[in-house]
Amino acid sequence: MNRLQKFVLGCAAAMLPFGAQAEEYRLGLITPPPHQWTVSATEAAAEIKEKTEGRVDILIFPSGQLGNESQMLQQLQTGAMDFAFFTLGEFANRNPNYGIFLAPYLVDDVAGARELLKGPTAQTLLDEMSDFGLVGFGWGMAGMRIIVTGETVDTVENLAGKKIRTIPFAPELAFWEALGAAPTPMPLPALYDAFANGQVDGMQIDVEGTWNTKYYEHAQSIIVSNHMMFPMAAVGSGRKWQGISEADREVIDTVFARKLDELVARYGEIDAKYKAELEATDVSVKTVGRDWFGAAIDAWYTEWREKAPMLVALEAEAQK
Ligand code: BEZ
Repeated sequence: MNRLQKFVLGCAAAMLPFGAQAEEYRLGLITPPPHQWTVSATEAAAEIKEKTEGRVDILIFPSGQLGNESQMLQQLQTGAMDFAFFTLGEFANRNPNYGIFLAPYLVDDVAGARELLKGPTAQTLLDEMSDFGLVGFGWGMAGMRIIVTGETVDTVENLAGKKIRTIPFAPELAFWEALGAAPTPMPLPALYDAFANGQVDGMQIDVEGTWNTKYYEHAQSIIVSNHMMFPMAAVGSGRKWQGISEADREVIDTVFARKLDELVARYGEIDAKYKAELEATDVSVKTVGRDWFGAAIDAWYTEWREKAPMLVALEAEAQK
């Protein structure tokens, strides 16, 4: 280490309370920098750094820079990375109960989703993150799902045979198969090019991403179906968690929980704002409800109540 490096290190140490050790941690997620998940992660990291007086410095790696979700999960399990914001994909493929939040028309809107994500079933599933070697901090979401297609779509029959990009997990695939479409799993960072090149005919996606990532530029139809909520799990590596002091863990836990609830609460406004932006483009924007999908939804519930027994409890919570 040269003299300048020693000097810089000495200055950094002098800013910490006596005996405290600063450590850098890595939080990975697949969303791009402007996405609300990345914005909230960055804000949470700044607040955690401030409240731990610099001891916990979480660096944010957006756009899948640390790998796809499967690779990031492995890194969390071995302690090679520290924190992540995940879709449900990796969890639902290991335990079908994690897929129940994707039940079509389980909730009407973001407000309903926010209640469910604070409810007992969501808490049980968060606690059970320990089965994956993880610590669960809370649930976020990316608003309600819509459908964006390269060709005009008016009726659900128009989706038949179309390659629709989904997340690679069973409940979503089952939904699209029931509609007669050809679900095509694809990670988010690969989606823009695949849609622009015609590798997929459409996608199931969030309103925010449709606007910010400009998927609409290659679309002729946007179906605002709001047919599913789209939760996010904020998690940490169980291994790395053991090495953090109790006081700093308390800060991390509290800041993440509050930031996640704020994030979920904001999605009503975010979805409305970007829907208005999309309506101002040349693309046809059509709002539809459960009836538009026909019998496929009832068939989906019959199948998934068996495959994922916790769905029944979640439905009961949703009806309250
Ligand atoms: C997606 O893969 O569709 C997605 C992932 C994270 C946030 C929003 C959308």
